[in-house]
Amino acid sequence: VFVLAATGSAIGLGNIWRFPYVAGENGGGAFVLVYLAFVASVGVPIMIAEVMLGRRGRRSPVNAILALAREEGLNPAWWWLGGLTVLAGFLVLSFYSVVAGWTFAYVIETASGTFEGATLEAVKREWNAIVSSPAAMLLWHTIFMTMTIVVVSRGVRDGLERAVRWLMPALFVLLLVLVGYAMGNGLFEEAVLYLFRPNFADLTALGVLTALGQAFFTLSLATGALMIYGSYLPASASIPRSALIVACADTAVALLAGLAIFPLVFAYGLEPQQRESLAFNTLTIAFGHMPGGQFFGTLFFVLLGVAAWTSAISMLEPATAWIIEHHHVSRSRAALAAGAAAWLLGIGSALSFNAWSGYRLWDKTFFGIVEFISTNIMLPLGGLLIAVFAGWRMSRRSSADELDIGDGALYGLWRLLVRIVAPVAVLLIFMDVLGVVPLTL
Ligand code: TRP
Repeated sequence: VFVLAATGSAIGLGNIWRFPYVAGENGGGAFVLVYLAFVASVGVPIMIAEVMLGRRGRRSPVNAILALAREEGLNPAWWWLGGLTVLAGFLVLSFYSVVAGWTFAYVIETASGTFEGATLEAVKREWNAIVSSPAAMLLWHTIFMTMTIVVVSRGVRDGLERAVRWLMPALFVLLLVLVGYAMGNGLFEEAVLYLFRPNFADLTALGVLTALGQAFFTLSLATGALMIYGSYLPASASIPRSALIVACADTAVALLAGLAIFPLVFAYGLEPQQRESLAFNTLTIAFGHMPGGQFFGTLFFVLLGVAAWTSAISMLEPATAWIIEHHHVSRSRAALAAGAAAWLLGIGSALSFNAWSGYRLWDKTFFGIVEFISTNIMLPLGGLLIAVFAGWRMSRRSSADELDIGDGALYGLWRLLVRIVAPVAVLLIFMDVLGVVPLTL
């Protein structure tokens, strides 16, 4: 159940929408390589650490950390780490809901045949029409957030499992179909070279930070989501094994999305730097031209919406659990309060693509700022602190006992990654971006 729930959390818009667009924005190959390295060397060890803290703490993130700090005789101020993760998840949810709303708009448009035989100009026009309507954006955002609140207020375990068990494989198969289409109709070789031949001259310090942020985002790390799911995990289940399965499935989906999207990007002469519209524009062209595209396209966007739903649930759950424990209110009230607050903040993101697109700070819209601060700063920072807590502050005996993989090479490897590699990587990248240590040109 944990593996299913965690996979449902991990696989979402981050894989299919966000990964291709940040890869395209940052030049492809070198970015992808660095991203994969971060997933393996920073993401997986921190995922193991986070699930471990959750299972040992057995409470919502803030109180789990607090309980563990007490158990280990540490400073109770560590509860701040729990607070930071809950806040990060909350911020991510606010804009995630807006993007998830787009998938619903695309369900309607695809089902009604808007994209049949559509040209590049037509899909771009349609994208603009969809995101430029404040009313429509707010409506979809509201619907999606309501759906998320409803599931969380009933307790996340019901239904989630079934959804993931059937829908994720279906999404996977559809992605394979899309990759097949891209092989036959796109510039597949060019896309493979673009994604897998690193050219480090393309990679900036900001690109490295974005790769790190994407690794955290796509694995749902450092927001307390995995701590909560970890707290449901039976003591007999192997945490490292589960984490590896989730990370592999998640990475496979992201790479498939890249292989479905980039051949068409090059075939149609789109620019890889299309940012938020990249996945939507290329996939709708594919559906507009493949046999049965209206059906498959509709199904695809439905499944993507559901994948986003299972992810959003995991973002709302930590804040909800925290409110329940602190304010002793019912689950449905807590979910409503947290969800409503995220919805309110999300309005800014929904309007970033239309009414408020002119308001910019550091050349970023409201959406861009919330996304940057939460994904590229708060998630890595939370991850760093989780690594320090689990690797340095928690006793070796506790973590060895909880992970239950003996005291051999495997445990040693995890401990090395979580104590040294992950924290050093995050710190160096932060300093690199700030210009303190120039690693990249
Ligand atoms: N990992 C999910 C995705 O790739 C999104 C997600 C779920 C998430 N929970 C999260 C992102 C917590 C950041 C933090 O779509």
